[in-house]
Amino acid sequence: MTARIIDGKVIAAELRARVAEEVARVKGEHQVTPGLAVVLVGNDAASEVYVRSKHTQTQAAAMASFEHKLPADVAQADLLALIAKLNRDPAVHGILVQLPLPKSLHTETIINAIDPAKDVDGLHPNNAGRLAGGFAALSPCTPLGCIILTKSVHASLEGMNAIVIGRSNLVGRPLVQLLLNENATVTIAHSRSKDLPQLCAGADLVYAAVGKPEMVRADWIKPGATVIDVGINRLPLADGKTRLVGDVAFKEVAEVAGAITPVPGGVGQMTVACLLVNTLRAACAIHG
Ligand code: GUN
Repeated sequence: MTARIIDGKVIAAELRARVAEEVARVKGEHQVTPGLAVVLVGNDAASEVYVRSKHTQTQAAAMASFEHKLPADVAQADLLALIAKLNRDPAVHGILVQLPLPKSLHTETIINAIDPAKDVDGLHPNNAGRLAGGFAALSPCTPLGCIILTKSVHASLEGMNAIVIGRSNLVGRPLVQLLLNENATVTIAHSRSKDLPQLCAGADLVYAAVGKPEMVRADWIKPGATVIDVGINRLPLADGKTRLVGDVAFKEVAEVAGAITPVPGGVGQMTVACLLVNTLRAACAIHG
């Protein structure tokens, strides 16, 4: 079997186009321009790339984009003061503090300072708790993207066996909750789980979010399963360059799976598109 490739690039572009249409409608009907503020602390190269992409795509959807770059040694009180200012700013509907933060800053304190109504990352305990309780919430963008990609293959996930490998606050845990809300049967696995191949064997849906290059192998996968690869790992090459690979051994797994996301061009494309969706949702919620 050769798997259908789930094209994140195309699906994300369609989503961004729908967001742009909706932004135009909200501007016309309510005279509101949805606005996203992104805060970047320090100069981590990967984070700078992500933040630039968020800025470009926010502007392309005709939303307002506010970038705040702070030095790595910023005092926690100064970062909290900026967040308090953004919480009060009526032009800002979404606030995202790019992670990871430098070690000198207490991530939990920073996230907790964001107004939950503007928490487009879905990381504030109010939103995480609401999601876990099955209530409407702003939900983390990467897991939302995973669900949209899965639904491009399966209209309903009800009763499907899903396994989520990885339990981070940003991906694994919220993805489990979103799958439960879709009435899937969910197994949660992680780096300490025993016999991962056996745990995967019965899964119709496999989500790999552990950050281990090409860990998921073909002989773990039930023939015909849908495989969603959240991993983004840079493998060094002999010539000094790097190659981007996911957490799934793509070539061999594609021979067994029914559908699979590539890296790059899969989940990564969806995260920013879902951030735009969350910003639009936050703007509509704030303005009724
Ligand atoms: N760093 C990598 N992915 C993300 C994300 O989705 N949100 C935030 N805030 N930081 C990240």
